[in-house]
Amino acid sequence: MNGQFAEEEWKLLLDLVSREFGLVFQDSRRRHLESRLLPRLRALGLESFGAYYRYLARHPERGAELRELARIVTNNETYFFREAHHFDLLVQQVVPQLSTHSRPGLLRVLSAGCSSGDEAYSIVIALQGALVDRTGLDWQIDACDLNSARIAQAREGLYEAGSLRACDELGRSAHFSAQGDRFRLRPEHRKGTSFFEANLAVAGLDLPGAPYHVIFCRNVLIYFSEEAFHRTLSHFHRTLVAGGYLFLGHAESLIGRRNDFQPVRLCNSIVYRKQDKNP
Ligand SMILES: C[S@@+](CC[C@H](N)C(=O)[O-])C[C@H]1O[C@@H](n2cnc3c(N)ncnc32)[C@H](O)[C@@H]1O
Repeated sequence: MNGQFAEEEWKLLLDLVSREFGLVFQDSRRRHLESRLLPRLRALGLESFGAYYRYLARHPERGAELRELARIVTNNETYFFREAHHFDLLVQQVVPQLSTHSRPGLLRVLSAGCSSGDEAYSIVIALQGALVDRTGLDWQIDACDLNSARIAQAREGLYEAGSLRACDELGRSAHFSAQGDRFRLRPEHRKGTSFFEANLAVAGLDLPGAPYHVIFCRNVLIYFSEEAFHRTLSHFHRTLVAGGYLFLGHAESLIGRRNDFQPVRLCNSIVYRKQDKNP
């Protein structure tokens, strides 16, 4: 195939990925992405990225294939208690403030881009560790991701050792039971969790548990186009209660970028807050 033609077809495919999922890829990731896509092209009997693009654009099964594509192109790296200080901030600073301030009987949290559920379950373990349920506060943790395979794994609650890399020996045995060379989350840590597929980058996203008191969206926005970044932030702003909190990953910052959140310093970390009704 003519090199320039192949280049144009590749670009069409990347544009479709960005339009559908909000994801953008650096040129340096191209080889890696191609090697992940090629087995799928072979399975469909397609000979070029252009043919795959046309399949995704027009085939009657395009909906199912887009879900397949999302499973291939997303980076799902995660583990329990990643950026562990965020879970301490949640239970030590945010929950007490919310409880005295807006008095939620039910704390509603969204883990957006939850991958295999490690973040959502870490929230439950942190809330249980701080005995939050004994204060009369209950919780609902909604957790969503674009990748259907990761949502299935989150629902199953079965993990490789690498997912527990930030847990010490005590944490491992307290929160998991060994199953062969894998680890099953103990059933009590599923309390209040609900996992579902959702695409954060679409317009008019409807989130079932909104309004939320807290949103965790860590290590997701770094992969987004400018347009998807702003659209997702506006979903979060719309679906947070006044005074609600947004936690982002350490490599993600809203400072210097257009947005409606206020940065707040909590114990040397920056989190973001929706303007309170009564500042
Ligand atoms: C690197 S993981 C981060 C997981 C977790 N939040 C953490 O910090 O450990 C990024 C997750 O975002 C998800 N994701 C990417 N694009 C998405 C989109 N448009 N809508 C929903 N989830 C998306 C991916 O499938 C992936 O599971």
